[in-house]
Amino acid sequence: MQLHGKRVILTGTASGIGATTLETFAREGAAIVSLDVQDEAGAANAAAADDLGPGAVSYLHCDISDQAEVVRVVDEAAGRLGGLDVLVHMAANEKNVAAEDVTEDEIDFIMDVHVKGTLFLNAAVFPHMKGAGGSIVNYTSLAGISGYPGNPIYGAAKGAVLAWTRNIARDWGRHAIRSNAVAPFVMTPMAQLAFDQAGPEEMEGIKEWFKMMVPLGGWLGETQDAANANVFLASDDSKFITGQVLSVDGGFVMVR
Ligand SMILES: NC(=O)c1ccc[n+]([C@@H]2O[C@H](COP(=O)([O-])OP(=O)(O)OC[C@H]3O[C@@H](n4cnc5c(N)ncnc54)[C@H](O)[C@@H]3O)[C@@H](O)[C@H]2O)c1
Repeated sequence: MQLHGKRVILTGTASGIGATTLETFAREGAAIVSLDVQDEAGAANAAAADDLGPGAVSYLHCDISDQAEVVRVVDEAAGRLGGLDVLVHMAANEKNVAAEDVTEDEIDFIMDVHVKGTLFLNAAVFPHMKGAGGSIVNYTSLAGISGYPGNPIYGAAKGAVLAWTRNIARDWGRHAIRSNAVAPFVMTPMAQLAFDQAGPEEMEGIKEWFKMMVPLGGWLGETQDAANANVFLASDDSKFITGQVLSVDGGFVMVR
């Protein structure tokens, strides 16, 4: 059990990478408070995960784009856990908007969740980690590193998340707070939504491109691949690693 005794907040646990991470962290012995806005799935996933390991797992509603709510919920979660060692922040939304069609509403829709949500959450966990240290894991994307067609606001938001992650690694290292990012490429409802927006002809092109670019299998990985990276970055096995991005993408992006 690599996370035995760790007190953890996970976001985005109603779906995708967050749901698999919740199960995996429970099996690895963590005590967890999970956050999402999809309350039915969020609460059901937490109840199921509670049976998987020794640590208590519970759920709280939290819209991460609302700073007052984030501060209140993080304080309540840290109170329930008796402190806080780890935040793995995976919650996010997505909407494809062409660069030439950008409007203020479209920008706010993505930036409020990805950028403001990440900054609100990271700032809210700081007071709970600064005494004994901790590990923050944020979620970026290959769209924020090398670029990806069709979703430039999302890419800009993920670039901001990565830059923020590296800047707080510099600022909070003196408090023994580590801050790293994961850039996944795995099959989830969010990834499926992006494919659903492409027509059949475009989809054929995408498949050919992935075959060429992803040395391991030519396609997306599984949510468990990202959950395993989260375990590593949350655990003491990564205690000398901060300010890094870990790509879990079969080799799609080889720069950082
Ligand atoms: N799947 C991929 O290949 C891929 C690629 C690049 C980056 N990512 C990133 O990985 C992370 C996880 O993605 P996923 O594919 O598992 O997504 P997902 O859509 O399956 O899950 C996202 C979760 O976030 C929650 N959420 C949305 N808005 C919220 C809000 N305002 N407050 C709280 N929770 C909210 C949703 O309810 C959902 O449960 C995201 O940050 C995503 O941008 C995923």
